[in-house]
Amino acid sequence: MPFDFSSLVAAGSPAPAVRWKPPGKYNFTFGNNDPDGLDVDKLEAAVQKALTREGRRLSDYRLHTGPQGYKPLRDFLVKKLKRDAGIECSADDILLTSGSLQGLDLVNGALLARGDTVVCEEDCYEGTINRYVKRGVNILAIPLDSGGMRMDVLEKALADLKTKGVRPKYIYTIATVQNPTATVLDEGRRRKLLELADTYSVPIFEDDCYADLTWSGKRPPALYAMSKSGNVIHIGSFSKTIAPALRVGFIVAPWSIMAHILPLKTDAGSGGLEQMMLAEYCEAHFAEHVPQLRKRFQAKLDTLVAALNEQFGTAAEFDYPPGGIFLWVKLPDNVDAMKLREAALAAGVVINPGPEWSVNKAHSKSRIRLCFASPTHEEIKDGIAALAEVCRKEFGVPARSANVERKAKA
Ligand SMILES: Cc1ncc(COP(=O)(O)O)c(C=O)c1O
Repeated sequence: MPFDFSSLVAAGSPAPAVRWKPPGKYNFTFGNNDPDGLDVDKLEAAVQKALTREGRRLSDYRLHTGPQGYKPLRDFLVKKLKRDAGIECSADDILLTSGSLQGLDLVNGALLARGDTVVCEEDCYEGTINRYVKRGVNILAIPLDSGGMRMDVLEKALADLKTKGVRPKYIYTIATVQNPTATVLDEGRRRKLLELADTYSVPIFEDDCYADLTWSGKRPPALYAMSKSGNVIHIGSFSKTIAPALRVGFIVAPWSIMAHILPLKTDAGSGGLEQMMLAEYCEAHFAEHVPQLRKRFQAKLDTLVAALNEQFGTAAEFDYPPGGIFLWVKLPDNVDAMKLREAALAAGVVINPGPEWSVNKAHSKSRIRLCFASPTHEEIKDGIAALAEVCRKEFGVPARSANVERKAKA
């Protein structure tokens, strides 16, 4: 008999994992990047160059550049954040992390205790929602419209909390290409958000990993850049612009909070080779790589939109997103997205059901999130046709696909 560890597992541990199986043939989940969009040759040359020049740095846990990560990569970010997001910061304001997920954990670790309250967008990144649930914090979710988080609702919510004596720990927002709605908060709303944050003395936590991926290449200034009082913590990532498996993200924060974040990063540093490779690659190629990637993503989005129009017709409602890698789709009210996920899985189609990407389970019941960066154009077309077939069998919609009338499930 193999040794049984189950009786020894620490109290309060998460539910055990199930063993990994290869995903279905048509995978519209996980926010992966486009394998054909990766500059493998240039990345290879970059790693070679970095190793030849200063590979011996790898003998030091911190690459001889201190606890905040490889200095040349932080120097690149200082220039990039100024150019693209309007952020004025120095390398000392930046901490390189193992993906922006570690950024989320570190910021939450520094600020959140059980019973605290946070404010976030109602439809929200699953990784963020799950972290709040695990930490036992109260979530006050603000609905979005086509312009992002609704400031009128936020204003009332903050006033209401104040009358109850509750000061939220922060307002979390994915203001630029929101996940999952892909909305972008315009400059006017950003100003209002900052004004409210100042009025109620609540900091803002800005999660910005999609901001380079607007089709126009333009974005409003980051909240971090617009803040006059230094009340914004900003996180970003190389996952969406270069490659998620590198696991390199970053936090930009004033020292007053960075000083509390740093002691929580107890892993003795994030992967050094990745940081060295990225510094070398980004300095030379980032600016030309990202516009090409955007083109690839938008072409895939157009394939997805055409497939949905053909296969679902008016049964699939969505706004054409201004950027990003996912589409937030509303299906008819009788579609239960959680059940659709299970039925689709059996047909080899993997989707994100809305309720896992929203604090409001009723509002998201018939919504799904479809990631389009990673599947090929063919997979997108065939996958959406297969999804429509499953949806019709289970829920009777769409009644027509590819302009052919079909029978609903008896
Ligand atoms: C809004 C948001 N924040 C953070 C992350 C984490 O990304 P990473 O850890 O790869 O940087 C993601 C990933 O999809 C995301 O969508």
